[in-house]
Formats: sequence, C-alpha cells, structure tokens
Amino acid sequence: MLIKSVRRWAIPEREATPEALFMNRRQLLVGGGAGLLAAGVSLPARADVMEAPDVAPELYPAKRNELYKLDRDLTEKKIALTYNNFYEFGSHKEISKRAQDLEVKPWAVTIDGMVDNPMTLDAEELIRKMPIEERLYRHRCVEAWSMAVPWSGFALKELVKMAGPKAGAKYLRMETFMNPDVARGQRQRWYPWPYVEGLRLDEATNDLAFIATGVYGKPIVKQMGAPLRLAVPWKYGFKSVKSIVKFTITDKPPKSFWEQLARREYGFYANVNPEVDHPRWSQATERQLGKDGRVPTLLYNGYAEEVAGMYANMDQSKIFY
Ligand code: MTE
Repeated sequence: MLIKSVRRWAIPEREATPEALFMNRRQLLVGGGAGLLAAGVSLPARADVMEAPDVAPELYPAKRNELYKLDRDLTEKKIALTYNNFYEFGSHKEISKRAQDLEVKPWAVTIDGMVDNPMTLDAEELIRKMPIEERLYRHRCVEAWSMAVPWSGFALKELVKMAGPKAGAKYLRMETFMNPDVARGQRQRWYPWPYVEGLRLDEATNDLAFIATGVYGKPIVKQMGAPLRLAVPWKYGFKSVKSIVKFTITDKPPKSFWEQLARREYGFYANVNPEVDHPRWSQATERQLGKDGRVPTLLYNGYAEEVAGMYANMDQSKIFY
C-alpha cells in the first residue's frame, strides 16, 4: 500500500511538523515526559487500545444475522485490534495507540447531495435509528493479508433509503474526518486528505454493503474506524473507509484517496480477483492474520454469488482495479 517512491516535492514527517511541536515531542520522547511531570503537568491518559468507545453501548452485542457465515475461524481480537491501516495516524500498522486520541463523541455526520432529506445528526443518534445486527465477514487487504471479523452495524442501504436519492443520482461518496491536530498523518501534505471513497449506488444498496458501528460484540474501536466505518467485503480493504463524517449522493464518480495517489494501482472498483495481479505483487494467495502459511484468494473474496451480477455487463478488465 505504501507508495515507496518519495516525490521530489514530498517532505519527511519531521519537517511537516511545526518545529516547536517537533521539539516538544522529542523532549517528551527523550525524557519520557519526566520534565513535564516534574513541573507538575500531568499527561492525558490514553485509553487502552482494546477499549471500546462509549457510543450507543447498549446496542451490543447485537443479534447475529446467520445469513453471513464464514468458511474460516475469526481472527483473534487482539490481532485485529492492533494490526491496522489508518494512514491518518501513520503509514504503518502500529497506529492503535495513537488512534485513541480521536474523540468520537460527539461526532457530527452529514448526509447531503442529490437527496430529498439532507441532514446533519450525531453518529450516536444515527446508530440508534438503525437496525443493528452482527455479521461475520471476511476482509481482504490489497496488500494480500486477510482477516475474519464479527462486525456489528447496519446495512448501508438503510442510510441511502433514509436520505432519499433523487432521480439521476448514481454514486455514494464517503469522507473521513479531517483534523491534523489529532491525526498527525494528515500533516503529511503529499497525501490528498481527507480520505475519500465511493461506491456506485447499486453497490451501496447491495445487501452486503455494511456500515460497521461495532466489532467483537462492542462499539467499534477507534483504530478500526469508530464510530462509522464501511465494510464492503468483496472489495479490497482500502475501499472500506473509516471514521466517516459525510455521505454525499451524487451523479459524479467520486475520486478516491488511493486513486488520486496511484490510479494505475488502486482503481475505483477494486473487486477482489486472484487472477488479476497488483502491478507490484500477486493477488493469488493471502496471509491470514494469526495463521501460518498462505491460502488461495477467492473471486470477489468469496462473495461472487451476492455481487457478480452487478458487473455482468461490464468490461471485465475494468472492474478489478
Ligand atoms: N480509512 C481511512 N480513513 N484511512 C485509511 O488509511 N485504510 C484502508 C481502510 N480504510 C484506511 C481506511 C485500508 S488500506 C484497509 S486494509 C482497511 O481500512 C484496514 O482496516 P483495519 O485496520 O480495520 O483492518
């Protein structure tokens, strides 16, 4: 996922951080915060990475929808909660601690664009309006690792229905929060923040498209995209945008974060296909987190029955990447 070739105009993280803040951070790292503590300044305590935020906690654990079964074991919770891609908090997998700085309550969500019912409401209010259930889904990252997760949440089609798309609407655009004070990765100006993803409206209203509001029987943890995160398991993981603040229904194809960075590597559809290699590596097999060896990757990540019909009349070379 990491685009390794640093562009001439790209600057290292150290330089992207204002000097004073950088020095403070260094002093803190070098001195272990001892200087501040001696001066009587207490550091804010970070929540434990396993701790679920307090967003509509009464809804969990939600009743499992038995339609969505797995052919493999669930990934161990500790692994799924500590091996994450969330570039807002760093371009590596160990971001779970840093993500605890994100405040998810209150959390304003806007639904706008070509809709009959535009609205802005709090995520907790939105979640409480929706039929929450648990689904066991596979998740396949474009980097060829995978996991199996018990998400809780609601079908995305319920949100689209509530918005009421107008005639001519074709796409759903989803946008992540923007707050470089908390998410230091957003100070890296060579990335096209905020993180944006999009689906065609028929994809967004497919039964499988899901908004995860919980995981492992509790409200979803911050590092996995609290309080609202997309789960589209037939697509590579980068389509599953985290910590959404805006849903826009539009007639224009949204330009996603990774598409803007590397169009030839991360396309709009990004449907999982073991026979179409990524330009830099094979997609034939995957490493299941927490297990030894590799297993074959399945077409549409094993969800062909549910989704292949949406792409039947399309140029097949365009729907994988
Ligand atoms: N959403 C945002 N906002 N920022 C990100 O960096 N990474 C994506 C996706 N959603 C990402 C994101 C990628 S590449 C993957 S594989 C999944 O989140 C990882 O989800 P996980 O950390 O819950 O496993």
